[in-house]
Amino acid sequence: MGFPSRFKETDRIKIPDYTVSPRHAKNIVFWEFRSEELLAGPARDVKMTNQKRKIVLLPGDGIGPEIVRVAVRVLKDCASAFGHQFDLTEFPFGGSAIDLTGMPLPAETLAACKSADAILLGAVGGAKWDALPIGKRPESGLLALRKALGLYINLRPIELRPALRSLSPLTADRAAGIHIEIIRELAGDIYFGEHRIEADPSGERATDEAVYTTGEVERVAKYAFARAEARTGRLASIDKANVLATSQLWRRTVTRLAADHPGVKLEHLYVDNAAMQLVLAPAQFDVILTSNMFGDILSDLGAALAGSIGLIPSMSCGPGPSLYEPIHGSAPSLAGKDVASPVGTILSASMMLRESFGLKQEADWIESAVDRLFSQGIRTADISAPGATPIRCSEFGERLHAEMMETVERHAQDV
Ligand code: IPM
Ligand code: MG
Repeated sequence: MGFPSRFKETDRIKIPDYTVSPRHAKNIVFWEFRSEELLAGPARDVKMTNQKRKIVLLPGDGIGPEIVRVAVRVLKDCASAFGHQFDLTEFPFGGSAIDLTGMPLPAETLAACKSADAILLGAVGGAKWDALPIGKRPESGLLALRKALGLYINLRPIELRPALRSLSPLTADRAAGIHIEIIRELAGDIYFGEHRIEADPSGERATDEAVYTTGEVERVAKYAFARAEARTGRLASIDKANVLATSQLWRRTVTRLAADHPGVKLEHLYVDNAAMQLVLAPAQFDVILTSNMFGDILSDLGAALAGSIGLIPSMSCGPGPSLYEPIHGSAPSLAGKDVASPVGTILSASMMLRESFGLKQEADWIESAVDRLFSQGIRTADISAPGATPIRCSEFGERLHAEMMETVERHAQDV
């Protein structure tokens, strides 16, 4: 599938080659991008809002490199078609960084993330590093990165894409109402308290400390109120205030802030009830605000309602660059087999374009192409119908590329 005919060789704009941090050049995973693929031109008569952006790539472990590779292709296509310049640089992170440097978040990787315009992450973790103590595992690199960048907001959109309605485990009438944004606090709670294991007469004694301060609850809650105001005005705050001190502080703080947001209809639910309500009547939810731990659990539940955890992107924000990642894990059993879904990562990339760079047209272009593939029945293994032949991860990337190129002129004209 070529570019539209009016794209001539001479119109092509050179965008910088994909680079890898020099010290880790041997770790390149995107080597197969040939230079022609980096060169493509915008239509001459299109008005551009050209952007020059530095994007750090953290493919990580397991299926991470395969899915990030597909999303990188999408970003490159976007840069080519719309005349942007995305400087994409990969850095080691997670288990692969442990193998390379002894640490899951090497200083060089963190420094690059801090000076990036946005970060795209695949996934981290795997059996190879499971025996390591908690603070040395790949996952601890992810937590350290979230903390170091001050990423206290995590937004996880739970949408059932129209062509995938039948994939929801819910009945059609219930599934139709799934348009939820989960806002998960990401920099506090039991994730970041002290984790301790000590001797005990019965064997061992383990402690995980959960902490929230007023300020930590306020800052994420303010974001959630604003998000609810921009949508239907419904906000559900989810906690366990009948048992936990952190949840009591949470509920008190959110309730106090509600006075500043008269347009928002706030309700509080206990997390056990919320899990049940999400399954029984998801349409009652619009924006959900919850703590780090509950958000982790409820977003997997939400993803199942939307057909597959492979489809859900996320954005993490704080004062600096935002980080975009699919909400699923590194799926070690699928790694290297080219069978994983790249959709959560592709949608994370389009979320980056929309939310970090204000490139709405470009994001719509990508997302509508994904939806058209779904409606043509093009499905990876996680969402393919029984008896149907699933498409491979890389093939999904190829088909998406072709689909996007088919419609590039239509989208670029609107810019
Ligand atoms: C997620 C993941 C992570 C988390 C793991 C990998 C540490 O499950 O982003 O949801 O618990 O935050
Ligand atoms: Mg999780």
